Amino acid sequence: MGADIKPLRFMKNRLPIKGQTLRYDVVIIGSGIAGLYAALNLPKSLKVLLINKSHPWECNTYYAQGGVTTAYDDADIDLHIKDTLEAGSGMCDANAVRLMSESSQGIIKDLIARGFVFDTDAAGNLLYTKEAAHSRNRILHAGGDATGRYLHLFLLQQNPHPMLSDATVVDLLIRDGICCGVEVASEGKRRLIEAKNVIIASGGVGSLYEYHTNAHTISADIHGICLEKGIALESMEMMQFHPTVFVSNSGARKQLLSEALRGEGAWIVDDNGYRFLFEYDERGEMAPRDIVSRAIFDYKQRTSNQVYLSCEHFDKEYFQERFPNIYKALRDFGYHLPKDRVPISPAFHYSVGGIKSDLEGRVPNIKGLYVIGEAACTGVHGANRLASNSLLEGLVFAVKVANSIVHTPMEGCLGSFLVGDEALELPSDKEKKDLLRKIMWEKVSIVRTTQGLRSALEAVEKMLSQSVGRLLFLRLLSAKCIIESALKRTESIGVHYIVHEGSKK
Ligand code: SIN
Repeated sequence: MGADIKPLRFMKNRLPIKGQTLRYDVVIIGSGIAGLYAALNLPKSLKVLLINKSHPWECNTYYAQGGVTTAYDDADIDLHIKDTLEAGSGMCDANAVRLMSESSQGIIKDLIARGFVFDTDAAGNLLYTKEAAHSRNRILHAGGDATGRYLHLFLLQQNPHPMLSDATVVDLLIRDGICCGVEVASEGKRRLIEAKNVIIASGGVGSLYEYHTNAHTISADIHGICLEKGIALESMEMMQFHPTVFVSNSGARKQLLSEALRGEGAWIVDDNGYRFLFEYDERGEMAPRDIVSRAIFDYKQRTSNQVYLSCEHFDKEYFQERFPNIYKALRDFGYHLPKDRVPISPAFHYSVGGIKSDLEGRVPNIKGLYVIGEAACTGVHGANRLASNSLLEGLVFAVKVANSIVHTPMEGCLGSFLVGDEALELPSDKEKKDLLRKIMWEKVSIVRTTQGLRSALEAVEKMLSQSVGRLLFLRLLSAKCIIESALKRTESIGVHYIVHEGSKK
């Protein structure tokens, strides 16, 4: 089992010396699955630059465990669509979902034709697993539980375009409804990079929360820039929490325990080994992740029990082969799987909402600006994302954007822009960032109350009125948008669960 990954020779690219104007046909912000697959689908004849904030692998794709969904065959397309629409609680854009599902088999064939190796059985048949709320096995995986990492390394190896790392995009250059490029901070300097097209593929908002499963680079800055420019964000109240996360490790990113574990038989139990989830939903461990997260949250509060993921009934050899990375990570934390039960908590996992885009990945009303992957709100996920649809969404819309760029005449842009001179970070920001994370976790997470949301909004507005660096300012704008969206949606739906004071849950 497992694909053969060649070592990656990665060279850090530097910006050309100061004074040279940097002009590209396409700048891609972010090098996760969406950014890299868009790059792969843009011809070498175009001048393309990918930009990432830290190392190219410090992105959410790299940490994705479960897999990539595909319609199993033509006959499964309607069922995959139905599962996705049901998970999205009636809020999905049905056209976007159909587009994604109908494209899925072609995308998988393309990856395989390019040389990507999904896990297969001894006879070479693809292995499909299942996760919650899927009606059948239709999730492909690689390296056992390292699908994201394998896909990411593969796409990095295939990437035909230059990449600039350790560079933070601090502004979008937009004038008269046209996007003309980006401003980056790199090696202590700020530079303008002109581009006829900019693709936002910068991921979601994980670092806004105290407990999350995301790469540390994922901090909602580009969402903040969009808000600053009046670009619409959609469904930002829809924040998805993963139910099975080991949160006791130090470090911002917490250890995900893939839903595929439950898909293949792991249980969620209390101190006494009792599978309490059935008190909440007859599907037990296979209920959608919002239901499981809320049940764990409620059961812990109600009973003061610790909650565990139990893999005790897995065969040891099978477990180590099927989930090698979870096995190793947990062993390093002192747990021997499948024997030991692992204490778990829900943690922030995925931003269902994002920067509004159409079905070609275009950002409405801004020429030359596109958005894909977790950063985007294409309407595919509605009020709740079906497990493992995200890598698929990133791939499908990356191709859409690449095609749309190739087929749209490139006009270029006539604005002249100046680099900003405000501080990106202030010494006092760290404390405020930590406070923001705590507020978002305590008041804007799994179960929300109007009072809690109002107090969160007040605290965020207070920080916004103080002197903060630009990067924290952008995070605060994004947090404010999430809280305001949550306050606006007064009924509970999908991942947004709100309790009005005085009413019963
Ligand atoms: C998981 O492996 O449980 C995560 C999959 C996903 O978020 O889609």
